[in-house]
Amino acid sequence: MSTATAPAVAETTADLRALRARLPAPVALVPTMGALHEGHRTLVRAARERAGSVVASVFVNPAQFGPGEDFDRYPRTWDADLAALAEEGADAVFHPPVEEVYPPGAAGVSVQPGPLGSVLEGAVRPGHFAGVLTVVAKLFGLVRPDLALFGEKDYQQLVLIRAMARELALGVEVVGVPTVREEDGLALSSRNRYLSPEQRATAAALSGALRSGAAAGPRGGGAVLAAAREVLAGTPGLVPDYLELTDPDLGPAPAAGPARLLVAARAGSTRLIDNLPVELGETR
Ligand code: PAF
Repeated sequence: MSTATAPAVAETTADLRALRARLPAPVALVPTMGALHEGHRTLVRAARERAGSVVASVFVNPAQFGPGEDFDRYPRTWDADLAALAEEGADAVFHPPVEEVYPPGAAGVSVQPGPLGSVLEGAVRPGHFAGVLTVVAKLFGLVRPDLALFGEKDYQQLVLIRAMARELALGVEVVGVPTVREEDGLALSSRNRYLSPEQRATAAALSGALRSGAAAGPRGGGAVLAAAREVLAGTPGLVPDYLELTDPDLGPAPAAGPARLLVAARAGSTRLIDNLPVELGETR
């Protein structure tokens, strides 16, 4: 049995505000949808290192799921989540019911992501990033954190949240934390549990493609994409959706210097995404 001290839990915004008032600054926020794994634990540990207090939220946000997506079957593992947050030393957890975050009768104001919200993931998941930004803005307003931490695994989400904090002057420092991976390279994700053993074996090729691409960086962007494509094409069972090379802010890739390689593919009905930083060399 764990000897960790249980964090204080708030299920209402009123309780959260009361809890927040007692927390020593600086306050770090780690927003999650629960089903916590080592990637989330790493976020809480990174928050601990940087802040006087750590608040985590556990809320499966209906606004970021489209029709036919996995909102209903998204894993909900509250007891295990609370135990993990206690072990990692979170001070407080916000675990609200849906009506507390989206009260009936609200005017329905939302945060729009701009053009970056309709490319890559946004092109296949219309409305997804408006749902993410709206709930994150609400969490920022409720917790009033000094900093908030997000995994680089959802890279487009991280870029958009950073842009929101900057462009709406929210006064929150947005910190990206590198992706945590299984031994074979698969990025940790709460959705990995949907994979059958065969799909799980196939899924490792996604990070393999990114690693091959990144290794070709000194030979330029064309070589990066070709190397990654070759791995994807040689992996039956993985159906690629996109493979894109961009600059670190998701704009056009530079000829040389820091870039980002992003991929999405399906293994059966499970959609997987991953990305890596790439250093591009000048092609001669
Ligand atoms: O990355 C997630 O788990 C979610 O998109 C977030 C940031 C908690 C918003 O619901």
